[in-house]
Amino acid sequence: MTLSFTLSVLATAFLSIALSDAVDTSTDPATKACQLLANAFPQLVAFPGSEQYSSDIEHWAFTSTQNATCTIEPETADDVGEILKIIGRSDIMSPFAVKSGGHAYNVGHSSTTGVQISMAKFTGLDYDPGSCTVTIGTGLLWDEVYSRLEPFGVMVNGGRVPGVGVAGLSLGGGYSWKTNQFGLGIDTIVSHSVVLPSGKQVRASNTSYPDLFFGLRGGLNNFGIVTNITFEAHPQTLVYGGQITYASNVSNIVNAAASNFSANNKDPKAQVISSVGSVLGELAAVVLFFYDGPTLPSGIFDSFFSIPSISSDVSTRTFVDIFESFGNTTVGSGPMGNVGHVVPVTDYPVDLLNHIAEEVIVLEGRLTRANDGLPVVVAVSAEPFLNAFSRSRGGAYPHPSSRQVTPMAISVLYQINLNSTQDEQSGFHEIAVSSVKELSNLIQAEAVSLGVSRWDDILYPNYALDGAPLELMYGSNVQTLREIAAKYDPDGIMKLTGGPHF
Ligand SMILES: Cc1cc2nc3c(=O)[nH]c(=O)nc-3n(C[C@H](O)[C@H](O)[C@H](O)COP(=O)(O)OP(=O)(O)OC[C@H]3O[C@@H](n4cnc5c(N)ncnc54)[C@H](O)[C@@H]3O)c2cc1C
Ligand SMILES: *[C@@H]1O[C@H](CO)[C@@H](O)[C@H](O)[C@H]1NC(C)=O
Ligand SMILES: *[C@@H]1O[C@H](CO)[C@@H](O)[C@H](O)[C@H]1NC(C)=O
Ligand SMILES: *[C@@H]1O[C@H](CO)[C@@H](O)[C@H](O)[C@H]1NC(C)=O
Ligand SMILES: *[C@@H]1O[C@H](CO)[C@@H](O)[C@H](O)[C@H]1NC(C)=O
Ligand SMILES: *[C@@H]1O[C@H](CO)[C@@H](O)[C@H](O)[C@H]1NC(C)=O
Ligand SMILES: *[C@@H]1O[C@H](CO)[C@@H](O)[C@H](O)[C@H]1NC(C)=O
Repeated sequence: MTLSFTLSVLATAFLSIALSDAVDTSTDPATKACQLLANAFPQLVAFPGSEQYSSDIEHWAFTSTQNATCTIEPETADDVGEILKIIGRSDIMSPFAVKSGGHAYNVGHSSTTGVQISMAKFTGLDYDPGSCTVTIGTGLLWDEVYSRLEPFGVMVNGGRVPGVGVAGLSLGGGYSWKTNQFGLGIDTIVSHSVVLPSGKQVRASNTSYPDLFFGLRGGLNNFGIVTNITFEAHPQTLVYGGQITYASNVSNIVNAAASNFSANNKDPKAQVISSVGSVLGELAAVVLFFYDGPTLPSGIFDSFFSIPSISSDVSTRTFVDIFESFGNTTVGSGPMGNVGHVVPVTDYPVDLLNHIAEEVIVLEGRLTRANDGLPVVVAVSAEPFLNAFSRSRGGAYPHPSSRQVTPMAISVLYQINLNSTQDEQSGFHEIAVSSVKELSNLIQAEAVSLGVSRWDDILYPNYALDGAPLELMYGSNVQTLREIAAKYDPDGIMKLTGGPHF
């Protein structure tokens, strides 16, 4: 008997089980949901072992990838509605997850052991020059959005480095290279196409379903599945910038330059992300420079440019070119783990940045030893925006112009030790999680004592570690958001996904 014959017999056997609508009541909700979905959408569902399955569950960080029971790639909003109706059937209520770019680094936020929905087929992009808006499918990464917009000479407020998805970044807030000028991503959104948990399709905007529109600007996956988003577009010229890497012996001078830039920059077109990171005992500073114009007015980045560097790649170039040059974040070889959190600050005093660099080195040494010497990157990124909240149009994520905080990102990225057992791997991840919590606490305590942070400052939901208190991410909006969730998702179907829920 040939192998292919065996496989076809098994496939036929499986199909006949799947095709009978009688759901075995002894099986778990995810298995039941997968049977019904395979029955309703035989072309769209995938099971372990297939290529589609692997790509549907894949995440940027291996530690936020889970083995789903099955995966599905809906092609239309109607499909999404049918899928939600099956998952949310009162006798099913299966755990599930919705993935756009898969860059969430909290396990369970866009991954699941139940039904993994991948938005990969939602790749539409419509530029409307009349209204100067662009409607973008939530299966796209910003990489492709920018490449497709460049020929039109316009851009939107999206991600700053390659690989990130349209949906997660935009539904959580959206810090962009153009934030100083136009606000967060959510301050440039005109409307969302949403499939509600009931299966109903609506368009949420300032004038239709305004409460839902409010919730979707920061409230992530709480209200339904978003199939596309309409953004304001802005004319795009050539830009100036790139990446410079500095050795540890000048990291304090880089910190001084970053601190000065944070305090004194007045040009909204100028932005940097200034990171210090340690790997294998070596500290380095990496600064990403962005100027939204072909020529750099004198003085803006001088305090950085005068510091001797290891490598520099700064020039006049296209928006797509600079974006792609910011490359992929990786560590070592093979699958990697990630833990991230955020400290909200109003400014970056040089003493704070220098103390952080010392803490980063110590923590990296400790974690690398615990990881059997495999590389661990501990990094802290200063993101000194210039009044990022002055264009605030409100929304679930509180970012009032009366309190301008910027998100200082704390992260631990590590090569997973494949020679250790699954339990040891989870054990190391837990150490990384508690280390990130401790480091963030320490940094915020110092920032508070220096007068550049408050303990009740809002944490950016897209950067916050799983389990961060709702009140710290959504402030006084929490009660309103609970009411909106109860109205649009009365049966709590979206609560079958992970992430912060109202
Ligand atoms: C390397 C890197 C760079 C980053 N750069 C930036 C940056 O420049 N600016 C910034 O603001 N943030 C940035 N982030 C944070 C980023 O915004 C979040 O990780 C974001 O959630 C990722 O979006 P995604 O679509 O890739 O993620 P996913 O993991 O696919 O989804 C994230 C969340 O969105 C939900 N979601 C996904 N699709 C849908 C949908 N169609 N409908 C409803 N809910 C959905 C998921 O359920 C999950 O809760 C970065 C993160 C990384 C790892
Ligand atoms: C997920 O599936 C892969 C491939 O079958 C397997 O190697 C891995 O151990 C599974 N992971 C978990 C957490 O079960
Ligand atoms: C956005 O979604 C709406 C509603 O499903 C659909 O009519 C429209 O074609 C979509 N546009 C894009 C660009 O995907
Ligand atoms: C909604 O409309 C009001 C009044 O025109 C405007 O002030 C506000 O900025 C709009 N909000 C969004 C998100 O477009
Ligand atoms: C810093 O170290 C680099 C090598 O990593 C060296 O070339 C450079 O001279 C040093 N600079 C200073 C100011 O010590
Ligand atoms: C500080 O920043 C200002 C404005 O960006 C710049 O003109 C000045 O040269 C910087 N000073 C130092 C010491 O870096
Ligand atoms: C980033 O990684 C992805 C997937 O591995 C790859 O397709 C892409 O070309 C990479 N981009 C850059 C800029 O290296």
